[in-house]
Amino acid sequence: MQNYKDLEKNIEKDFSSVSSLETLQEFRLSYLGKKGKISLLMKELSSLDADQRKENAEQLNILKGKILELIDTKDNELQELILNEKLETEKIDLTLNVESKQGTIHPITQVIDEVIEIFGDLDFFVAEGPEVETDYNNFTALNTSENHPARQMHDTFYVKTETDGMPNVLRTHTSPVQIRSMLEQQPPIRLIAPGKTFRCDNDQTHTPMFHQVEGLVIDEESNMSHLKGCLEIFLKSFFETSELKMRFRPSHFPFTEPSAEVDIAYTRKGNQLIIGDGKEWLEVLGCGMVHPNVLRNVDINPDQFQGYAFGMGIERLAMLKYGISDLRTFFDNDLRWNKHYGFQPLNTPSILRDLS
Ligand code: DAH
Repeated sequence: MQNYKDLEKNIEKDFSSVSSLETLQEFRLSYLGKKGKISLLMKELSSLDADQRKENAEQLNILKGKILELIDTKDNELQELILNEKLETEKIDLTLNVESKQGTIHPITQVIDEVIEIFGDLDFFVAEGPEVETDYNNFTALNTSENHPARQMHDTFYVKTETDGMPNVLRTHTSPVQIRSMLEQQPPIRLIAPGKTFRCDNDQTHTPMFHQVEGLVIDEESNMSHLKGCLEIFLKSFFETSELKMRFRPSHFPFTEPSAEVDIAYTRKGNQLIIGDGKEWLEVLGCGMVHPNVLRNVDINPDQFQGYAFGMGIERLAMLKYGISDLRTFFDNDLRWNKHYGFQPLNTPSILRDLS
């Protein structure tokens, strides 16, 4: 009978030098392959007599089982090692380089966010209205009757749909949001309404689409001095300056009485504008006390309620604050411009930190 003890020792010795899948395969072949030691011994069994064959076969099967077990355990061990090594060395970085890959916030969006932040702190809420508006809301309800000269001045875009026999319009200003809000809500009201507006005009200082923000306060006592204080706080916060010379110039709007336009002082230094002080004036907004007819048109009693309204152009505010000289560049979608004038997305304006 074969010395199985020696064979077993050899198996253990050979196995101890297995260190890779290749050497494990060699080990397997050297014992269990066609010409492997165990396989050859199995073949030799046929030449033995029945008793010896049985005895030797038993021993060989035990060894074969042991070898298979060793191979199986080692194989798992090596596979795991290989997988870990792969995980370690083949890392894929799925993160983006935030600085270089992200887009920027457009100055219009930034200024709207800043305006909302300031008025939000003064207890105004943000109202919205549609860009396709009825002629009634855009003009008539705002005390601008059909033959009123202000209608011509607005260079209105008309659209094909109608309301009450009148063609609808692309709103020429954000003021119709006043009407919608007063129809929806009883005073006290304190709202701002930022949004897109449209006029059929296109030259260096006009684009067919531009942005405005409307303001409206209706209650029982707000007066012109409240309007003045509110706008002063707004303009100082917006231009981030504690000194801001401003003047109210008498003006005319159909939906306010009295009406005023507000100018702020500035100085020119080279081609830079210094906002806040100086001998020159820039117009920044229109405002006034809400006309009693407007209140009547939305069923608010003008003997009980009163208030003020204001409206300003977002592009103009953005140009003044951020030194953008050409209005039309806002809408060119030139990526270099966007990158230069744009803002970091995560730096949302806050009056607790700096606005911009
Ligand atoms: N809607 C006016 C315009 O587009 C701006 C305006 C002026 C709005 C005075 C107002 C206001 O609310 O009181 O020119």
